[in-house]
Amino acid sequence: MTEPEFDTRAFRNALGRFPTGITVITTMGPDNKPEGLTANSFGAVSLDPPLVQWCLGKKAPSLPIFRDGGYFAINILKDTQRDISNKFATPAEDKFSGVDWRRGLGGAPILANSLAVFECRNETQYEAGDHLIFIGAVEDHTHVDGTPLLYNAGNYGVAVPHPDDYHPNADAIRFNDLVL
Ligand SMILES: Cc1cc2nc3c(=O)[nH]c(=O)nc-3n(C[C@H](O)[C@H](O)[C@H](O)COP(=O)(O)O)c2cc1C
Repeated sequence: MTEPEFDTRAFRNALGRFPTGITVITTMGPDNKPEGLTANSFGAVSLDPPLVQWCLGKKAPSLPIFRDGGYFAINILKDTQRDISNKFATPAEDKFSGVDWRRGLGGAPILANSLAVFECRNETQYEAGDHLIFIGAVEDHTHVDGTPLLYNAGNYGVAVPHPDDYHPNADAIRFNDLVL
């Protein structure tokens, strides 16, 4: 009997049931050309030493630059930065035109108005299927008050407090009454 074919679409849909924040991960190319892409594969790994991870598709044009770079910066987006997310998810010769940014460690671009930034030494990479896992050693980080841009089931979203956590009569209130 032949194996049933793996349904990649259903797999992606199932993965999409895990909501995430959205980051733009940046690095500086050898010719001083900034690179960056939208990524939601970011995650915490270790507190001591401080390590984070993210995954880059092996077909991404920016892969050689990230692989060979010394540093990358992880910019966590605010809910006001949907346009930035779209811009950095679209292949383009210069994704940084019209974007306010400054050079961080190793020249990796830090985007203005980020909710948090992790500046990382490009420590280790692991090949895993069709992606490369990057482990970043966090050398500096910042954050501000604000609300994150979320990605949920293929759509952008915003975070609202769970009604049970902040309203004494939460049982009497329907969730939709709070978000609309
Ligand atoms: C919400 C969202 C999350 C994404 N997450 C990732 C990711 O974690 N890794 C990845 O390789 N591509 C991810 N992408 C796709 C890249 O942003 C896109 O392929 C981009 O064009 C790659 O940059 P490049 O063309 O400059 O290499 C994501 C796209 C979106 C919209």
